[in-house]
Amino acid sequence: MDPHVFVIFGASGDLTRRKLIPAIFQLYKNNSLPKDFALLGVSRTEFTDEAFREAVTTDNKHLKKKEGEEEQLKEFAKSLFYQPIDTNDPEDYAKVKDRLHEMDDKYNTRGNYIFYLSTPPSLYETIPEYLHRHDLNAKNGGWKRLVIEKPFGYDGKSARELNQILLQYFEEDQIYRIDHYLGKETVQNLLVTRFANGIFEPLWNRNYIQHVQITSAESIGVENRGGYYDESGALRDMVQNHLLQIVAHIGMEPPNTADAKAIRNEKLKLFQSIRLISEEEVPDYVVRGQYIAAEMDGKEVKGYREEKGVPEDSRTETYVGIKFFIDNWRWAGVPFYLRTGKRLPTKVTEVVVTFKSPPHRLFFNVNEIQSTPNQLVIRIQPQEGLALHFGMKVPGAGFHVKTVDMDFHYSDLTDAYVPEAYERLILDCMKGDPTLYAMGDSVEAAWKFIDPIINAWKNNPDITVHGYPSGTWGPAAAEDLIEGEEGWRNPCE
Ligand code: BG6
Repeated sequence: MDPHVFVIFGASGDLTRRKLIPAIFQLYKNNSLPKDFALLGVSRTEFTDEAFREAVTTDNKHLKKKEGEEEQLKEFAKSLFYQPIDTNDPEDYAKVKDRLHEMDDKYNTRGNYIFYLSTPPSLYETIPEYLHRHDLNAKNGGWKRLVIEKPFGYDGKSARELNQILLQYFEEDQIYRIDHYLGKETVQNLLVTRFANGIFEPLWNRNYIQHVQITSAESIGVENRGGYYDESGALRDMVQNHLLQIVAHIGMEPPNTADAKAIRNEKLKLFQSIRLISEEEVPDYVVRGQYIAAEMDGKEVKGYREEKGVPEDSRTETYVGIKFFIDNWRWAGVPFYLRTGKRLPTKVTEVVVTFKSPPHRLFFNVNEIQSTPNQLVIRIQPQEGLALHFGMKVPGAGFHVKTVDMDFHYSDLTDAYVPEAYERLILDCMKGDPTLYAMGDSVEAAWKFIDPIINAWKNNPDITVHGYPSGTWGPAAAEDLIEGEEGWRNPCE
């Protein structure tokens, strides 16, 4: 890997402590960082190098140090530096440039820089422009890469505008739009499950699949992010990015090779095939909800509207359930369902592929009703793994069927090291591999699906925001989305 400086804008923020520094420290411990490497934190807070080092290493409760790692951490901290600037003042970027040149001299980093924007989205346009003014975007004299955190845009229009602005200063192959779900091993494994196994791919279409469900549940509420979340809501926070990426992995056609371009092109085609839900159709295809106070795990928890930073009359959704279709050869007529919410009973993300039943029923279960259809359950997190539900004869007289599981857990792969999502994504960016990053046109295509839903909610206040007690599986109305079928599969029941 090339020597480089990793520059974090927004270095005094929460993400730096929670995810970025722990991921980079892990890369350091795995000997995955180049020998010539330095990290420069940039933000408004007046830290010295020393104070920054302490804040993100020794004083960082998110950085889990194992016993005996103190020395390594001290060594790692020596490669961390800090430059306070006013990010809105273009002149201040000269200070960043000077520091980078100093580091190039000291660490032989040769003008290779990664700029990681871990700032409020309002700065996603400003920082690239000011980097450009100081010639910090040009590829001459070393490569330059720009990593943009989510949310990428607030709607389709703003995402398009942001893409256009970024492309004025950086080329598409320099821009890395992060979606941490793409860094999850189990999300990548969706492609391997589908395309490396002769038994699944022939069945992976409208002839054999009855429907697909994707659930991403969280038991936490909005915690201390009420201000951000109220502007965002579950649709923007989870569906536009993470869940649609999972849909793309489930639904895309096989790429001709496993390289970045081929995979990203197939994903784009999939996004373009998702049937848009019109504003008028939203009440029939989308259910939104908001958690209300209730007892969860023996503790009374606040309702969303009582959370800090949330207006008392907020109509922001903390739950969303959607039914939709993919209009292409493979998926015509197969309903896809997805739902996500805060303050649901547990933290789990899983995909359930339900296969069609055999054409003629010969056997029933002991209660003389039809047994459940075959299901492939792909657990993205936690207890990462795959389970296949199928019917087996109950021993004894007659032909009664019982549903049993074939179950694989990632934890059984004891010798395999499973990297954390940020660790994998940062490493890929350092290597210049954008496969697991979102392309600009995919992001815009994903927004096309989201926009009419947002507009319907904005323009039609009669669309109900269903209250659901914290600790339940969301509004009862979401059950009606799944008509005539089995209903949602609730993972912990
Ligand atoms: C983030 C959202 O992108 O993803 C959060 O902003 C959410 O609201 C989080 O909690 C979920 O990520 P994970 O990896 O914990 O499933």
